[in-house]
Amino acid sequence: MINDKVLLQMANDARKNAYCPYSNFPVGAALLCSDGAVFTGVNVENAVNGLSICAERVAIFKAISEGKRDFVRLAVSCASDHCRPCGACRQVIFEHAPYIEILMGNPEGEFVRTTIRDLLPDAFQLPD
Ligand code: THU
Repeated sequence: MINDKVLLQMANDARKNAYCPYSNFPVGAALLCSDGAVFTGVNVENAVNGLSICAERVAIFKAISEGKRDFVRLAVSCASDHCRPCGACRQVIFEHAPYIEILMGNPEGEFVRTTIRDLLPDAFQLPD
């Protein structure tokens, strides 16, 4: 199982593949699955407002589409000291990984550790 530093490095390395001509703000994510597999993601923007997608959701959707369902940790990296998943991503993360740990870091390797429960308290869930 890879450690936090490596997961953050993978998230940061992925940033080079971001497609972000509108914001010029590359974001990378790396999602660690319980079997040790890692799926990276980047933000992919679009000229049509509303069609862009964040790095976190790309990583999660890649993993889901490859049959993964059990997620341990998600690292996110961007060139800001305040790299935080957006509200939409928080809801998507909660859906697929309600107990996941999240590492929010920058290219210098500094990071803040939290959980999706702390980022999205009292989250919406359909009744059983
Ligand atoms: N973005 C992400 O990909 N993840 C985040 O955690 C925050 C924001 C993207 C969305 C958009 O492409 C760009 O960063 C600037 O908002």
